[in-house]
Amino acid sequence: MKIAFVGKGGSGKTTLSSLFIRHLATTGAPVVAIDADINQHLGVALGLDEAEAAALPAMGDRLPLIKDYLRGSNPRITSAETMIKTTPPGEGSRLLRVRENNPVYDACAREVQLDDGAVRLMVTGPFTDADLGVACYHSKTGAVELYLNHLVDGRDEYVVVDMTAGSDSFASGMFTRFDMTFLVAEPTRKGVSVYRQYKEYARDFEVALRVVGNKVQGQDDLDFLRAEVGDDLLVTVGHSDWVRAMEKGRPPRFALLEDTNRSALQTLQAAADATYERRDWQRYTQQMVHFHLKNAVSWGNERTGADLAAQVDPGFVLGEGVAAPA
Ligand SMILES: Nc1ncnc2c1ncn2[C@@H]1O[C@H](COP(=O)(O)OP(=O)(O)O)[C@@H](O)[C@H]1O
Ligand SMILES: [Mg+2]
Repeated sequence: MKIAFVGKGGSGKTTLSSLFIRHLATTGAPVVAIDADINQHLGVALGLDEAEAAALPAMGDRLPLIKDYLRGSNPRITSAETMIKTTPPGEGSRLLRVRENNPVYDACAREVQLDDGAVRLMVTGPFTDADLGVACYHSKTGAVELYLNHLVDGRDEYVVVDMTAGSDSFASGMFTRFDMTFLVAEPTRKGVSVYRQYKEYARDFEVALRVVGNKVQGQDDLDFLRAEVGDDLLVTVGHSDWVRAMEKGRPPRFALLEDTNRSALQTLQAAADATYERRDWQRYTQQMVHFHLKNAVSWGNERTGADLAAQVDPGFVLGEGVAAPA
């Protein structure tokens, strides 16, 4: 399953992503954690020290390798240079799994040991101004979008993306790539305004969006969020002394996380798991084609000098059975 944490800077995306990843690791499920936030802090939030985090390979630097691997022998994608962030897979493309080993993980992922098991971590690398535009050919988050568009993931295996709710994710279609999107909102007007904007984009694409209230301190905070987001409010998290201790570089064992916060994490997992039944690979594939054609016309054709609409394989539907022998 694919799960995103989005929200305003400082709302707690990275903190809650890292807690959720730690929680999933305790269940023994395979987890790929991806840092696609402007401020790259997920590695540190998962316990790496600054030097280890700085040494992580950046997906954004490995785009040519990623593209060459993914296009495989797909005859519609004739070179890595004409492959843009939205280029969809088709017959001959190489698909990815959560658990396997492959050259993309070899190049981009590192294992991070947590209290209760290891997860794979990939990071986009720090954003430049150009990455924040909609058209960027070298976009850092483009590497993540390509990964998600070629991923055949099943139940009980998780990809968790810590992500910026920016123009890039809306224009490219990245915001439609998840089984569940958790929008982290503090009980403030700014916090909920990001929710409104996201909801607006999400409306036409059947994006499952739930709000996670963070730094919620009392009834007044709760009432505010309820009034502003209604039933989209899934759960709230208060101030965590466990998180504060971790920020001081003294992480307690995860088993010592506060009970209320642990139960909030269970609520998140249950909500994400419940979306599995509604998964629709046909729609998932159609949406990637939709955004690819949009990007082709708005900048991709001009940038690559190719007709990128021709990359679309009309008969192809991504799905769990796709790569299995007939
Ligand atoms: N529930 C919480 N309890 C204690 N501190 C928190 C909590 N949520 C976030 N923080 C702190 O708030 C700051 C911003 O959180 P962060 O996760 O980095 O936000 P974002 O990734 O959305 O920019 C961090 O210092 C983090 O430790
Ligand atoms: Mg962050």
